[in-house]
This record gives sequence, structure tokens and C-alpha cells, in this order.
Amino acid sequence: MSFSQKILKWYGQHKRELPWRTTNDPYKIWLSEIMLQQTRVAQGMPYYHKFLEAFPTVYDLANADEEQVLKLWQGLGYYSRARNLHATAKMVVTEHGGHFPNTYEGLKSLKGVGDYTASAIASICFNEPEPVVDGNVYRVLARYFGVDLPINSTTGVKYFKKLARDVMNAENIRDYNQGIMEFGAIQCAPKKPYCLLCPLNDSCVALQENKVGGLPVKLKNTKIKNRFFNYLIFLDDKKQTLLEQRKGKGIWQNLYQFPLVESHNVMNISELKEQMGNHNDFPDYAKVLLYNEQPIVHKLSHQHLHTRFWILQTKAILKKGISWEDIISFPVPVLIADFIKTYKI
Ligand code: ADE
Repeated sequence: MSFSQKILKWYGQHKRELPWRTTNDPYKIWLSEIMLQQTRVAQGMPYYHKFLEAFPTVYDLANADEEQVLKLWQGLGYYSRARNLHATAKMVVTEHGGHFPNTYEGLKSLKGVGDYTASAIASICFNEPEPVVDGNVYRVLARYFGVDLPINSTTGVKYFKKLARDVMNAENIRDYNQGIMEFGAIQCAPKKPYCLLCPLNDSCVALQENKVGGLPVKLKNTKIKNRFFNYLIFLDDKKQTLLEQRKGKGIWQNLYQFPLVESHNVMNISELKEQMGNHNDFPDYAKVLLYNEQPIVHKLSHQHLHTRFWILQTKAILKKGISWEDIISFPVPVLIADFIKTYKI
């Protein structure tokens, strides 16, 4: 039996019943694939259902407010994906009459749709023989064929895409692509693969050469940047606070947060007051209280945010104040959402 036949057989026996496996609707497949790049199936499932409930068709998503889209995406991270999702829905409606392109090339012209997503949609919805290569596929191929090229190097990416194409099952690409991803997620898992019971264990190079734990090879990330965030929780006598929208490039574009003072290191109260003096748009405050002495370290892929929250009782009622009860309706980073949940006003 060939590699792809073994994968197909395994998939037939072990595949999970998932909501997007009972449809070939490109809108639903696209949604699920964008979400699954972000998270594992169990965590992604509630988001998939929430999105389809709020936006049953691509028209509903195209017509939505960006804030609603960001709010529903809250917690998934990489918010540019949510903004791209929204932009793509608009593009599908305005430029493609509400229908997703039905080829790999056509799909790739959509915003936020790269090689992986285009291959996934083209194969699952239109049975186009394009191999998908995601993290699971890299792992399975690297181990089974014993390839130690780094999966995040240019040569590695090219090599694995070609290998994926050489060994795919073009006749049943729909199941094969989902099968190899599912096999990677369940059987050939990153930390504890079940090699003893694996139907491919008699021909897996990594297993024979005792290299399963060392494959795939990934080049170390560039250095992590440490940033120091001081969030200012202004509170007036009407239980109102201030939120600002993050603008410009960088993390969390268009999401809301408390007013932020960023510093080069952990700041004490007098340093904070001095920094605040440089901003003339902060309201006057009567007293300042540090909420957490120990900074909360929020880890993103390339940066660690050392965060402290400061509570500032204001002298006057805030002009642009938002009632504390209303702030949960704004799309915010999880770091802020967690603070809102735990802080008792
Ligand atoms: N991971 C991402 N998309 C998947 C799919 N369609 N099937 C299995 N695992 C996946």
C-alpha cells in the first residue's frame, strides 16, 4: 500500500465528525480553515459556530461592522486574520458576485488567502489536486520520509511542497488532504506520537532511525522583544472609564484598550506620573493605585508584554467616559478582557 493509501485508510477509520466535514460550501470551509490556522479543533469549534450564527452567509459577513467581527474573533489572536476575513467577504461579494473562486489560483487572489488556505479550499470544495502543507503535514512528512530540512527555511518550504505533491492522492484529494492533517493532529502528534500502534510504523524513516522526537526541524525564532505596558484605568464617580482604539500597524490594530503608557522598563509611581505629564490629553486624577505589583507577562509570538494596571480616580466626571458595564461589548485583547473579568470595581 502506498503512503497516501495508508493515510486514506487511516482517515476512513479514525476521522472525527466535525461540522465542516459535512459540507462543501466554500464559505464554511474558508471560515473553518482560517480559524484552524489559529487554534486547535476543540478551541476553534465554538468560534466557528458563533460566526456562522452571526453571519450565515458571506453577504452577512460582508455587511457586518468590523467591530462585531473583531468581537467575535476575540481570544483567537492574530487579529489581522479577522480584518482580512472581513475584507475578503466584501471582495467575494463585490468582485465575485457572492461566489468564491473555484480554483486554487482564483482563491489565492483573495486577501489573506495564501498557499495553505487556497489549497485547502480548492481541494476540499472543488476536488482540485493541490496538496495542503500545514504544521501537521510538515510533521508527518518530515518523520515518515526522514527529512531534516528546516520547515521554516525557503529550501525547506519548497522541498516539502514538492514532496507533498509527489506523494498525494490526486484522485481523492478531498479526503487525502484532510486525512494527512488529521493523522498529524491525532496519531503523529507533536509530543507523544502513538508509534507503537501506528499503521505506518513499518515504513517510517524517523521511527527506524530513532529520530521521531527531533523531527521536524525548525529554525529558532528571532529574538523575543520585551515591552513594558502600563494601562491606565481612569474611574470617575459615575463608574465610567476611558477606552482608546489602537491605530496604525503593529499588534491589535483597531482593537480597544485602556489608555496606555509604554516604557523601557518596569516603572514606579513617580516615573509613571512624570510620563503622564507628557500627555496633555489625560484627565486630572486625585489618586493613583497600582493594581498588580508583579507585571502580568502576556506572551505573543515575537514579544513579551510586561503589563501593569494602574487605577486612577478622577477629579471630575469623564467627558468621554464609558460605563464599566458597557466595556465588555468592545473588542479588546485577551490581556484586557482578563483584567476586566477579575477587577472588581
Ligand atoms: N486542520 C486544519 N484544517 C483541517 C482539516 N480540514 N482537517 C483536519 N485538520 C485540519
